[in-house]
This record gives sequence, C-alpha cells and structure tokens, in this order.
Amino acid sequence: MRVLASAPAKIILFGEHSVVYGKPAIAAAINLRTYVEAELRDDKKIRIEAHDIKVPGLTVSFSENEIYFESDYGKAAEVLSYVRQAIELAMEEAGVRRGINVSITSQIPVGAGLGSSAAVAVATIGAVSKLLGLELTREEVAKLGHKVELLVQGASSGIDPTVSAIGGFLYYEKGNFEHLPFMELPIVVGYTGSSGSTKELVAMVRRRYESMPELIVPILNAMGKLVEKAREVITSELDEEEKFAKLGELMNINHGLLDALGVSTKKLSELVYAARTAGALGAKITGAGGGGCMYALAPGRQREVATAITIAGGTPMITEISREGLRIE
Ligand code: PMV
Repeated sequence: MRVLASAPAKIILFGEHSVVYGKPAIAAAINLRTYVEAELRDDKKIRIEAHDIKVPGLTVSFSENEIYFESDYGKAAEVLSYVRQAIELAMEEAGVRRGINVSITSQIPVGAGLGSSAAVAVATIGAVSKLLGLELTREEVAKLGHKVELLVQGASSGIDPTVSAIGGFLYYEKGNFEHLPFMELPIVVGYTGSSGSTKELVAMVRRRYESMPELIVPILNAMGKLVEKAREVITSELDEEEKFAKLGELMNINHGLLDALGVSTKKLSELVYAARTAGALGAKITGAGGGGCMYALAPGRQREVATAITIAGGTPMITEISREGLRIE
C-alpha cells in the first residue's frame, strides 16, 4: 500500500517574528507544493529518499537506508531532520512502528522563508499517518507539524505548519487561526538567492529583546497593531483598489519595523526598493529574513516588478494563493 500527500508553501503577509511573541500574523498558502509518498516495507527499516531538494545554488537528490543518517548536504540535511521527526511523531500517534519508504519531491526552495520545512513536515505526517490507518484532521496535522518544528528548531510560533496544513488565507494568533475572506492578491515574490536560518534569526531577535526590551517591546507591539489594521482592511467593505493601497502602506511599515529588528539584509532591501520603484504599492520581507524572500503587492504591475527584481539580482516568482492545504492525492 502507498499514500501520496502534498502540502503547500506559504508566505507571511504581515507579522513574522512578532508572532513568536504571541502577536497575531496574517499568512497565505501559495501554489508551490512538496509531495511525499509513503509505502509500507516488509522489514523494519525506514528509508528516506529526497529528489530535487532545491538549496540555493544547488539541486540535490539522495537516499538513505537508515533512519539515522548523516549527510554533508547542509540545508538539504536540515530538511530531512524535519522528515525524520515527522515520521517519528506520526508513528507515535498511530501507536505502531512499521518499516516504510518515504520519498520526497519538492517545488519549494529550501531556506527561502517560504515554509519548505513546514510543508515537508505536514506532507510527511499526512502521508505516514494515513498509511498507518490514522484519520487525522488538518488541524491535528498542523499541531503535529508545530511539534516537529519545536523539536527541530527549538522556538516556533506554529504559523508555517498551520498555513501549510489548512491552506488559504489565515489570521493566526497563539496556535489558533481564523479564515480571512479569500482575496486574489497580485503579488510577486523575490528570492535573494541566499538562505537565512529561521532558528538563528529567531534567536538573534530574542537576544535583542532580552538586552533592550525598552526598544524591542514597542516594535513588537507596533507589529501586532499593524496586523490588526491589516485584518480590518481585508475584512472591510472598501473596494479592492482602496484595500490594496492600504495594505501596501502597511507592508512598507512592517518592512521598516523588521529592518529595525535586524532581520533585513542589503539584498532584501535592494529588492524591496526595486519593487517599489517599479510601481509596487508595498514591498517587504516575508519569513524570517537574513536572505530568503521579499514580496511585493503590485496590482497591474506584476511584470514590471518581476523585471525590476531580476535587474536588482533577485529571482522573481509570480505566484497565486492556494486555497488548498494538505491534500491526500
Ligand atoms: O520559516 P520562515 O522563514 O517562514 O519564518 C517563520 C516566521 C517566524 O516568525 C520568523 C518564526 C515563527 O516561528 O513564526
């Protein structure tokens, strides 16, 4: 028997980092997916195979015969530590230990702030639990995905696995989510080509928070208020044009606050300014920063913004919001 599951990447529209401190955030699933196929084996071994894991500048494929593997593939190996934990948790949840083959194929660049780790964790939990006869809801898979992140990276708000498991457009706060009315967002994602470590960036913000709370707490509070404002705009009766203009302004403020936290880089700022100059209404980091991606809101200007991002040395992706989260294929 075999089960194929898939889960989407995500972008955080507003509220990354402050969400770790219990503030709300708004995120959406996008139409890049990770596919995980799980199949039972006759022996007790667990074999993990990964194809085309996209690490900046490198595409690697490899397979391992044992669950405890060592690898020199850096970022790709990091992805596999999420897979390993996801398999362990799914088996624990099902109360059975079986030998399985797990095969992964992904369209999501690793370390780009698009939630590749969460997507692989969610798809693995979905495939393995179903293979072991367990019917988990998407919410249950999201909670297990959050556990995987906590085990692998120490700190996590849980927003990435929640958006990946549930899909669509979500308002997220302290482990709970609410669906926002679906909006087609004319966005362009710009990839810097280098990756930031979410774990290290979250730890860096924590050190600043502890050493200068009088400065950092007001920044985090402002981010929380900004997310509330964004939700008001999204759920308001304003027409689309007015909504986009207000959301763009809030994105620009959010980017400035993230820069103040220290998670932007020269390249991220260059892509953000290139996008604004090319007519985007707003542009900001998405995800942990330190490299990774920015995104721009550019109604009617997506092509121009994509070109500007390319000229500034980034890789543009014109993408759409995906209504669907975890899917058993
Ligand atoms: O994994 P990324 O790069 O999308 O970042 C996750 C968002 C953070 O707020 C930085 C961390 C978290 O756990 O919410």
